Amino acid sequence: MERLQKVIANSGYCSRRKAEELIAQGKVCVNGNVVTEMGTKVSGNDEILVEGKSIDLDSVSYVYYLLNKPRGIISSSKDEHNRKTVVDLIETEKRIYPIGRLDYDTTGLILLTNDGDFANFLMHPNNNIKKTYLAKIEGILDKKAIDQLKRGVVIDDRKVGVVDFKVRKKDVDKNTSLVEVTIVEGRNHIVKRLFQKLGYDVIRLTRTGYGELGLGTLQSGEYRELTIKEVKKFYGNKK
Ligand code: URA
Repeated sequence: MERLQKVIANSGYCSRRKAEELIAQGKVCVNGNVVTEMGTKVSGNDEILVEGKSIDLDSVSYVYYLLNKPRGIISSSKDEHNRKTVVDLIETEKRIYPIGRLDYDTTGLILLTNDGDFANFLMHPNNNIKKTYLAKIEGILDKKAIDQLKRGVVIDDRKVGVVDFKVRKKDVDKNTSLVEVTIVEGRNHIVKRLFQKLGYDVIRLTRTGYGELGLGTLQSGEYRELTIKEVKKFYGNKK
């Protein structure tokens, strides 16, 4: 017997968090009855309907994609204003969704999957998955800001987990800097907020790394599947 939200997520229908929302909203039926209780246990013999669709536990096969997200694309499965999403860029019949989010105007590396456990693992703060960003900022990053980055920057009463940063370029004529920053957290707009806190606006933001993965030769809008080895590497010694 497994918890209902886990079974739904494992089926590839959606993430575990989304499954919990759907259960709370009364959109999940088990053997003909609406179930809203989170801990409900089910087995392979139970008939599970999510939003009226049957969850076929036997037909699951997981897929994992790495996309170089272009600007002006939404990082979700659906958009209420019918704008293009990262899922629209990938040719698959599977019900995939992005792992975490990049802002509408942020470009770069984003992972998509139908494997709820994998998505949860990567997003769980305890697992400290590193993400590297290249930020073009307005202004020249000064010594005070660099010292602050080294000491740690607090946003909403919590220190941002900055693992590393490097000033890659300073353009005094254009008054811009290119800063590479590696962090281990996923709060919304965290890189923009980090630089804002230091007194700098981010003009352009690209995610260049996720765990050990980089963009390689993928151009904007291009994607590839992850190898099983790449997927397993995330778990390291934990699984
Ligand atoms: N931090 C941001 O500010 N935006 C992103 O898209 C990702 C991280």
